[in-house]
Amino acid sequence: MFENIEMAPRDAILGLTEAFVSDPNRDKINLSVGVYQDASGRTPILDVVREAETRLLRSETTKAYLGIVGSPEYARAVQRLILGADHEAVTSGRAATAQTPGGTGALRVAGDFVKVCCGAPRIWLSQPTWPNHAKVFAAAGLETSSYPYFRPGSDQLDLDAMLSQLKSLPAGDVVVLHACCHNPTGIDPSIDQWQQIADVVYDRGLLPLLDFAYQGFAQGLADDAAALQTMCRPKAELIVCSSFSKNFGLYRERVGALTVVGADRETAQRVESQVKQCIRANYSNPPAHGGQVVTTVLNDPELTSLWQGEVATMRDRIRSMRKLLVQTLADKGVTRDFSFITRQRGMFSFSGLNPEQVDRLREEYSIYIVRSGRINVAGITEKNIDRLATAVAKVL
Ligand code: LMR
Repeated sequence: MFENIEMAPRDAILGLTEAFVSDPNRDKINLSVGVYQDASGRTPILDVVREAETRLLRSETTKAYLGIVGSPEYARAVQRLILGADHEAVTSGRAATAQTPGGTGALRVAGDFVKVCCGAPRIWLSQPTWPNHAKVFAAAGLETSSYPYFRPGSDQLDLDAMLSQLKSLPAGDVVVLHACCHNPTGIDPSIDQWQQIADVVYDRGLLPLLDFAYQGFAQGLADDAAALQTMCRPKAELIVCSSFSKNFGLYRERVGALTVVGADRETAQRVESQVKQCIRANYSNPPAHGGQVVTTVLNDPELTSLWQGEVATMRDRIRSMRKLLVQTLADKGVTRDFSFITRQRGMFSFSGLNPEQVDRLREEYSIYIVRSGRINVAGITEKNIDRLATAVAKVL
C-alpha cells in the first residue's frame, strides 16, 4: 500500500531544527524556530511555572477528561488577559473561548469552524507570513491567498497596498492579522494604522482572525493587547487564536486558545456549540496540564506579578541582543545599515539575508536560520554573537 509514497519535504521551520540536531559541528547555532533561549543558550522553565506545577502536584485530584472546550477557569483567564477583564466583549458574554493544543491547534479549529459554518470563505494571509498558516488552513480544506504587508527592501509596513487589497475582497472572506510581533517581519501597524485596518475590514464585511502568539514580547502584556482591543469594536465579530508557548515558555505542553467574539451572547453560544463539534471530531478535548499551570498563575496576583517580571526579562534580553547584533555587525566592518533590527518587535528579525546567503550560513558555518532570512534573535547569546556576526559578514 505504501510502496509509491514519496518522501515529504522537511518543514520550513521545524525541519531546520531536525537538520540542526543531526549536524555534528560543535559550534552550530540554531536561530530558526521561535523558541526563547536565555543568556546561556538554554530554554528555561519559568520559575513561576515550576511553582505552579509544584502546587498542582499537591492539589490535583483527577486525570479525568476535561470538557470539549476545556476548563472554564482557563477560558476566563484567557479572556481577561487578551481583552481585559472590563472589556465589553468579556462582560457581555459575547466571547466564547476554547482551550486548544497550542496556538496551532486554535488555528486549525478556527479553520474547521469557518469551513463548516461560514460558507468556506477564502482566507487571506499577509505576504510574508508564518509558513504554517497556509498549511493549517489548506488542511482544513480552505483556499488561501495573500495580501501585501511588507515593502520589500525597506523595514516598513506597506499600509496603502494592504488596505487597497483588503478593500477589493468580497464580504465574508477571512483576513488573518498578527495581533503583535508580526511573524516573520517584526513590523506591526501603529494603533492609528490598526484603526484604519479595522475600518476597512468592517466596512467590507470581512472576518478578522487575529493570531496572537507573542503577547508580552513587543512592549508589554497589556500594551501588546491594544491592537486586538482596537479590532474588537462594539458588536464586531472576530476570531482570536492565542498561545502561551512563548510568554509562559510552555512550548511542549501545547497551551493555546480559540476565542470567537460574536455580535451578542446568544450568537457566542451558537458559535461555541459548533466549535465543540469541530473539536470533538478532531482531538476530542484538550490536554489539561499546561492550561492548569496558566490558570494557577493568572488566578493568583502574586504569581501573576512574578510572571510579568519573567516576561519582561525575556523581552529585555531579546532587545539587548538586537542591539548587540547590530553593533557586532558594524564592528566586523559590515557597511550595510542593519539598524532596522533594533526597531523590529518580538522574537524575530527579518534580516534581509537572501536564500543563497541563508544556505551558505547553514552549509559553511552550521548557522540555521529560516530561508526567508528570519533570524530568531532570542537564540543569540554573548557567546555565539562573534561567530554569528563573522559568518554573516562573510556571506554578505
Ligand atoms: C515559529 O514561527 O518559529 C514558531 O511559531 C514555532 C513554529 O511552530 O513554527
